[in-house]
Amino acid sequence: MTIDAIEFDWVADLVRRETAIVLGAGKEYLVETRLTPLAYDAGEPCVEEWVRRVRSGGTPHQRRAIVEALTTNETSWFRDGPVFDVLRDTVLPGLLSARGAAPVRLWSAAASTGQEAYSLAMLCHELDPHRRAEIIGTDVASAVVGQAAGGCYDRLAISRGLTAQQRAAYFQESARGWRIDPSLQRHVSFRTLNLARPFDGLPRMDLVLLRNVLIYFDAPTRLDVLRRVRSVMAPGGWLLLGTAESANDSDLFVPERIGAVTLYRPR
Ligand SMILES: C[S@@+](CC[C@H](N)C(=O)[O-])C[C@H]1O[C@@H](n2cnc3c(N)ncnc32)[C@H](O)[C@@H]1O
Repeated sequence: MTIDAIEFDWVADLVRRETAIVLGAGKEYLVETRLTPLAYDAGEPCVEEWVRRVRSGGTPHQRRAIVEALTTNETSWFRDGPVFDVLRDTVLPGLLSARGAAPVRLWSAAASTGQEAYSLAMLCHELDPHRRAEIIGTDVASAVVGQAAGGCYDRLAISRGLTAQQRAAYFQESARGWRIDPSLQRHVSFRTLNLARPFDGLPRMDLVLLRNVLIYFDAPTRLDVLRRVRSVMAPGGWLLLGTAESANDSDLFVPERIGAVTLYRPR
């Protein structure tokens, strides 16, 4: 049985209001699958019935759990390898030399469980272990922000995208999994931030990774997010989107191709 239209529409509306993620027709199965564990935890084997209960008298905590369960947090180390080759060979060396003694600021703007932000920290360390890089990872989902800040990864997560050398150099194995080395972790901070709302308190960013998140928004929201991202970028900064995403339908950025990778400069 799939969730009925009234409960589905209520969930889709809640998720959209809280995150701008669009759950269109055809996503009923996704909603049902993601919410099944929450319903079970609440002692209710029927998802539809549980959603109905939350809709008519649930707590803010239950509504928040629904929203976070419907974020898609797929990520891995050095995801889309050629992108990180371009960052290591061209973009980061250019930024490090242009910024002189000032810290380079990098933002992983939909950081999920932190692999993207820590991959950036590894690249910076490889390029110059003595330079100060400030890396900020943000995400709308507090559960993944907590995991990212903890910096501890299980066997499956650690196996996706790291070489054996990187694992040995940057992680310590413990009973709970592989923990990112504190010397790398101190360059990276995480916090919750909703891209669909005004950003407060962010410094000027030299490089923004806004990857694999715009695909979940509608066109006006994508444009709005791009506009606000641009407003926090330093002159000479770079924006990197996911491989299925583009900023070409805005006049905010100029695409620049390096090898097979397209990056964007603020116009
Ligand atoms: C597929 S992951 C991408 C992770 C990483 N950027 C990568 O490419 O591997 C998408 C992330 O976007 C986050 N997200 C969705 N809507 C968001 C919003 N409105 N504000 C901030 N983050 C959001 C999700 O919680 C999820 O962790």
